[in-house]
Amino acid sequence: MRLVILGTGGMARQHAMHFAAVPGVTLVAGVDVDKSRADAFAAKHDIARGFTSLDEAIAWGEFDAAANVTPDSVHHATTMKLLAAGKHVFCEKPLAVNYPDAKQMADTAEKAGLINMVNLTYRNVAQLQKARAMVLAGDIGTVRHIEAAYKQSWLVSKLWGDWKTEQQWLWRLSKKHGSNGCLGDTGIHILDFAVYGAATDVDHVFCKLRAFDKAPGNQIGEYVLDANDGFTMAATFKNGAIGVIHGTRWATGHINELQLRIYGDKGGLEVIHRTDGSTLRACIGANIEKGEWQDVAAEEVETNYQKFAAAVKSGKMQEPSFRHAANLQKVLDLAQVSDQKHAELEL
Ligand SMILES: NC(=O)c1ccc[n+]([C@@H]2O[C@H](COP(=O)([O-])OP(=O)(O)OC[C@H]3O[C@@H](n4cnc5c(N)ncnc54)[C@H](O)[C@@H]3O)[C@@H](O)[C@H]2O)c1
Repeated sequence: MRLVILGTGGMARQHAMHFAAVPGVTLVAGVDVDKSRADAFAAKHDIARGFTSLDEAIAWGEFDAAANVTPDSVHHATTMKLLAAGKHVFCEKPLAVNYPDAKQMADTAEKAGLINMVNLTYRNVAQLQKARAMVLAGDIGTVRHIEAAYKQSWLVSKLWGDWKTEQQWLWRLSKKHGSNGCLGDTGIHILDFAVYGAATDVDHVFCKLRAFDKAPGNQIGEYVLDANDGFTMAATFKNGAIGVIHGTRWATGHINELQLRIYGDKGGLEVIHRTDGSTLRACIGANIEKGEWQDVAAEEVETNYQKFAAAVKSGKMQEPSFRHAANLQKVLDLAQVSDQKHAELEL
């Protein structure tokens, strides 16, 4: 697979590193509207070509697939161009900033018969895959309650840089710059973590969003800081369970942590993913009586990067697909309406 990386900012480093390690994948070009960034990226990752526009790269045309690592609001227009040019696309999450756009991307890719996947990174967590397998095997019985949280600290910690001065954080805080805030950014991850882990889908949602004042006039330069910093969502699920899904950028001390707890009528599971590793614990069988939890081992799983390369090679789609991500986007869109209307809404 001859792969182009579109958007050579922070996350593109992960794409370059992971894809370069997949046998049969060659990174043939990097594209970024910022020339200095594209040049530095190409030099660092030993990539022969750099372009400053997608149109130029498409006119050149010597690639099979693209990893779209542009900001959220850029995904739709650029992916549509790539699909029109007959290229397979591995797109960053969220697939688009709203459901109609995401649906159009899924419809177009499917109609064209092109491989389309979305980088819902936490599918790479072996413990999540194992938890899902245990749920599907009936190890915890009928699922009754789901608790999922995504905790980030970057509004209170400078570990990842200073959001007050760095563009890569400022665009994430501004609606005008195409961000749906914490809900759109990490909400999609934790929503996928919850429904994939518990092997179900959301059917009702009641959501609260909040953007706290963070600067004089709540603005820094061109960035109006109006995108939500956090969300709380009460949900019901297609398997009959109820639950809560929430996320915040104010979670002091957590840096980047996903938590999922799934309780059934025969047991419970807990998946924790932190920057220093992941764990899966279960309380099942005789342990239920004493409330004792045991670690569960999970075998290594294929990453999304490996799956995408395999899908392009074989011509057979793999998950997570555009369609799946579009369906998650529908939940996120409804969550925003729920917040505006102060109402529980059905999908
Ligand atoms: N899967 C994950 O865990 C994960 C983690 C971080 C970021 N992301 C996603 O990756 C994407 C990029 O995030 P980032 O942190 O790298 O942002 P970033 O701002 O660091 O990088 C984005 C890059 O895209 C470039 N760009 C903007 N418009 C472009 C266009 N039209 N054509 C070409 N290049 C363009 C920018 O100049 C910039 O270099 C976002 O959608 C984000 O949500 C995903």
